[in-house]
Amino acid sequence: MSAPFQFVPSRRLDGVTESATLRLNALVNQLKAQGRDVVNLTAGEPDFNVPDVAKAAVEEGLRKNLSKYTPAAGIPALRERIARRTNLQQPSVVARHGEWKAANVVVTNGGKQAIFNAMMACLDAGDEVLVPSPFWLSYPDMARLCGGEPRIVRSTLEQGWKITPEQLRKAITPRSRLLLLNSPSNPTGAMYSRAELAALGQVIEQHPDAGRLLVISDEIYDRIILDQVPFCSFAEACPSIASRVITVNGLSKSAAMTGWRVGWSVASPEITAVLGMLQGQTTSGINSLAQAASVAALDLPESAFAEQVSMYRRRRDVALEILHKAGRIKVMTPQGAFYAFLGVEGYLQPGEDSSVFCERVLEKAGVALVPGGPFGEPGAVRLSFATDEKSLAAGCQRLVDHLNGA
Ligand SMILES: Cc1ncc(COP(=O)(O)O)c(C=O)c1O
Repeated sequence: MSAPFQFVPSRRLDGVTESATLRLNALVNQLKAQGRDVVNLTAGEPDFNVPDVAKAAVEEGLRKNLSKYTPAAGIPALRERIARRTNLQQPSVVARHGEWKAANVVVTNGGKQAIFNAMMACLDAGDEVLVPSPFWLSYPDMARLCGGEPRIVRSTLEQGWKITPEQLRKAITPRSRLLLLNSPSNPTGAMYSRAELAALGQVIEQHPDAGRLLVISDEIYDRIILDQVPFCSFAEACPSIASRVITVNGLSKSAAMTGWRVGWSVASPEITAVLGMLQGQTTSGINSLAQAASVAALDLPESAFAEQVSMYRRRRDVALEILHKAGRIKVMTPQGAFYAFLGVEGYLQPGEDSSVFCERVLEKAGVALVPGGPFGEPGAVRLSFATDEKSLAAGCQRLVDHLNGA
C-alpha cells in the first residue's frame, strides 16, 4: 500500500489564519448546543431582517426564471443604482470629474470580494500594503494572499483610533502600493471627518514616494452613523485623487443582507476594467436573484433605515452606560458601525492576553467577545451591539460583574 498522502498547502497561504470571528462564533454555537447560557456579543452582522421589497424581488425573480448567468460585473440596473448612490455621496467628485456610471462599478460577492479583487488587481510580490490599526482582521491576510506585505500603521485610543497625516507621511515608501481606509471602522467605531480624510489625501498627493499608491476606501458601514459627525466618503474629501481610489461598499451591513453576498467597487474605468476581467475569470457575476433583490433594496429611501440606526444608537448608549461601571475598561464612544472596542489591559491576569481573557469571560461569565489580537490590538476586545437590547444589557452586566469580582 502506498504511504498516506500528505497535503502541503501552497506557500501563498503561509501566515494566513482562520477568521477569528468565524471561529469564535462556531465555539459559541457549540456551547449553546450543549445547553450553556451564553450571551453572544461577537456578531459581525445586523440582527435585522432583509427589507420586504428585497424578498418580494426574489419571489418575482423566481417566477420570471431569473436563473441565467449575469454579466460578470453585475446587471446594468444594479450597477446604475450603485453609481447613482455613489454620486450622491461624492458630489465633489462629480463636479470635478463627471458622474460615476454603471461602467465604473463591479458587483461582487460581498464587500470582501471587492477588496480581494482590488488587491489581486494591483499587488506584485513585495508591494507594501499600509494598514492602519486596529484593522478589519481580513485585510492583512488578504494582502498576504495577493503577494503583498502588510505594513501596520498603529493608532491609539488617545488619538481616537485614527492615524494622523504625519504617521501616513512616515509610513509611505517607494514600495507602498495600497492604503486601506475603513471609516466607520470595524472594530473601533471610529470615523474620520471630512477634514481628516482631506489631510490624508493631501499627504498622498504630495508625497514623493506615493507615485504608485492606490487607496481602498472600505465604506461598508456608511449607513450606520451614531453621532453628529456625518459620514464622508474618502474620494469626496479628496476629489483630486479620486482616480486612484477604489471605493468599496455593499448591502451586508446597510440593508442587513450579509448572507446574500452583495458588495461592489466603484473606481476609474481603467481600474474597473481590470477588476471586472478578474471577476470574469474567477467567480463570474454574483447570484442573479441577489442582484434583483439589491435593485429593490437600493430603491428604498434612506428613511427606511432610520429606525435601525436609532436602535443601534440606543443600544450603544445602553452598553456604554453599563460598561463604564468597570472602571478599568478603556473605551471610546463609537461614532459609527455597531461595535465597541474595549481596552481590557487593566483586567488581564498574569500571562493572559485578550484571547485568553475572552476564553475566561466566556467560561466564567457566559459572555462571548472577540479578542483584539487579530484586529491588531492584543490588549483589547470587540463587543458587538448587533443584538437585542435586553441580551446586550445582560451581557454587559455579566461582564462588568465578573470584572468587578461580584
Ligand atoms: C470593515 C469590513 N469590511 C468588509 C466586510 C465584508 O463585508 P461582506 O460581508 O459584504 O463581504 C466586513 C464584514 O464584516 C467588514 O466589517
